[in-house]
Amino acid sequence: MAQQKIENPEELLHYQIRSALTMEQHSLEALEELELAARDSKIKKLFSHHSDETREQIANLEKVFTLLEYEQTTAPSPATTGIKTQAAALLDKADSKLHNQIAVMSALGNEHFEISAYTGLVLLSESLKVADVAKLLQDNLDQEQHTSEELLSTLKELTQ
Ligand SMILES: [Fe+2]
Repeated sequence: MAQQKIENPEELLHYQIRSALTMEQHSLEALEELELAARDSKIKKLFSHHSDETREQIANLEKVFTLLEYEQTTAPSPATTGIKTQAAALLDKADSKLHNQIAVMSALGNEHFEISAYTGLVLLSESLKVADVAKLLQDNLDQEQHTSEELLSTLKELTQ
């Protein structure tokens, strides 16, 4: 069956919201795997805190589906599939003393992708004048930016 073409900004927003839901599901899976891989209790705690935040972000996306009267379905997110696969492969390859560093670096990569995804979604929803949707997506974006800063400072500590 031929795939339906995305024809306009509304359909693009719809598709990207569905893709963001997959992205967050991948984040949750990755954070759980990285929490297991980390060998330091402070880093494990950081990941478990981010898992809680990711659940809040998923709840925000669910609200977006309701506001836009979309059926809650997912679309592929190959970028976050790749980030997760790359992290697993690197952890497998590397000595366990490097696992803290690899886990934080991988999480940082995921955050950067999430930041770009939400930046696009916020601008798109603003242009479509759905302010309540833009606000929920902005809340997720703010949280991702904060997480990214936390991961960066942890990574700096680890690499000093
Ligand atoms: Fe997220």
